Amino acid sequence: MSTHLSWKAKEATVGELAERAGVATSALRFYEREGLIHSRRTSGNQRRYSRDTLRRVAFIRASQRLGMPLAAIREVLGLLPDNRTPTREDWARVSACWRADLDERIRLMQQLRDNLTDCIGCGCLSIDVCALANPYDRLGDEGPGARRLAQPRPCPGGED
Ligand code: FES
Repeated sequence: MSTHLSWKAKEATVGELAERAGVATSALRFYEREGLIHSRRTSGNQRRYSRDTLRRVAFIRASQRLGMPLAAIREVLGLLPDNRTPTREDWARVSACWRADLDERIRLMQQLRDNLTDCIGCGCLSIDVCALANPYDRLGDEGPGARRLAQPRPCPGGED
């Protein structure tokens, strides 16, 4: 089954967009309610999406997979122009916003990958090395959470 949108099509129905983007129509309606994508209405009150909405949806999906909060996605998509198809330069602005956040997530994931077989200082005292690495859960005095894993840095203006 082909999911191609005709190359001549400048707009897509909700079904066409859903099929080509690989998402449910309910997801598209949700994104629209959340202000992440926009459509125009036909005289018959049907939604029509500009073709570049496919790229926005792909960006939303990829960002969600990386754990980006919806509010942050909305914020960076707000940097794109509403009145024309975003250019590479527009997307570069969005990408620059994501860089610091992605670098931080990569750092946290690498630390998780590298330290998960050791004591992470979470207070469980459940593996043999905990008695040495976190005797009597002393790391709990420093604060909550897994003290030997990187703690997320507060995101300026973010809501993580
Ligand atoms: S792994 Fe939880 S305290 Fe060591």
